[in-house]
Amino acid sequence: MIINTEIIDGGGTLRVGWQDGTEARFHAFWLYDNDPGPAVRDPANGQRLITIDQVPAENVIETAGHADGALTVVLAGGRTVRFDTVWLKRHIYDHPAPEMLVDADIETWDAGLTSQLAVHEHAAVTADAAAKRDWLADVRRWGVARLSGMPLRPGAVAETARLFGYVRETNYGPVFQVRAEVSPSNLAYTNAGLQAHTDNPYRDPAPTLQLLACLENSVTGGLSTVVDGFHAAEVLRAEAPENFQRLAKHPARYEYAGQAGVRLTARRPMIELGPDGALRQVRFNSRSVAALTDIPFDHMPDYYRAYRHFSAIINRPAMQVSFRLEPGEMFIVDNRRVLHARTAFDSGGNRLLEGCYADIDGLYSTLLALEAETGAAA
Ligand code: FE2
Repeated sequence: MIINTEIIDGGGTLRVGWQDGTEARFHAFWLYDNDPGPAVRDPANGQRLITIDQVPAENVIETAGHADGALTVVLAGGRTVRFDTVWLKRHIYDHPAPEMLVDADIETWDAGLTSQLAVHEHAAVTADAAAKRDWLADVRRWGVARLSGMPLRPGAVAETARLFGYVRETNYGPVFQVRAEVSPSNLAYTNAGLQAHTDNPYRDPAPTLQLLACLENSVTGGLSTVVDGFHAAEVLRAEAPENFQRLAKHPARYEYAGQAGVRLTARRPMIELGPDGALRQVRFNSRSVAALTDIPFDHMPDYYRAYRHFSAIINRPAMQVSFRLEPGEMFIVDNRRVLHARTAFDSGGNRLLEGCYADIDGLYSTLLALEAETGAAA
């Protein structure tokens, strides 16, 4: 509830006070541009009808008042704009530039997550909106979510992706099978252990989600492990900020040419930051790193030192959460953030996983819509 308003800066700014003591300033041009009414927003689809050219650069607030949960502002020229006060409070920008390494809605973790990571039920997430919301909320919060009770049939992993979004098809197909092969097109298709990695850094953009479901597992070993790459980056920054900067500032190169007709390449940093310095993406996959040629000669020794340091952090058991994937179990990883690994397994049994990639924007969209419908998780 708004309790007071004050026009300041010669009409260029409105100061708003809420009952709980919150205070925030808003610019006149910002209020004009964010008018929720039909002069600015299409009432049917909510899209903005004006361009920046139509927002007066020098706008002035003439009057402001509040009543019945709404703020009414009259701008120069007589334009009246009404805001829901709850909406306005949610969109306050009167704060210093945040110095966040990770977004507020995610939590980084280490091996301690083992006891906290829920195993969701396929039947429940298929039938119940709140259960689906909780499953997808785990992907947002932890970058990983587990699911059991999957149908044991080929293609089930893609059907599960369609519960929240769309499968991203690649040269490996809409769905790929991970099993030990005699002449593998990828080292994943052997029984060797694989260091924790993100998938397909040689794509641009890299797939943002990977789903891996187990159809068969009678081998000894072959544990699945996940590592929070954002936490590894936080640890790297804490232990050696210069190493963090080296991996963030130089582009690495990745490539895959393991199949006829395929030559995938990408030139991207191992640690990618957004314009505000927040972590956006980690790309870590020794199988796919190409010859690094973008780091100047004089910096290459330091770059390799930083790369080795990051790898050593990722390999620490204290960073890892491991579980055995039984038939009917699946996990999703946010491939921008969470690395996955597999321990070596003997070749005496069968291990068959089926995987697919999907896009995280679809997952977030479904999650936000579910939260709007059912409320946020407890
Ligand atoms: Fe992988």
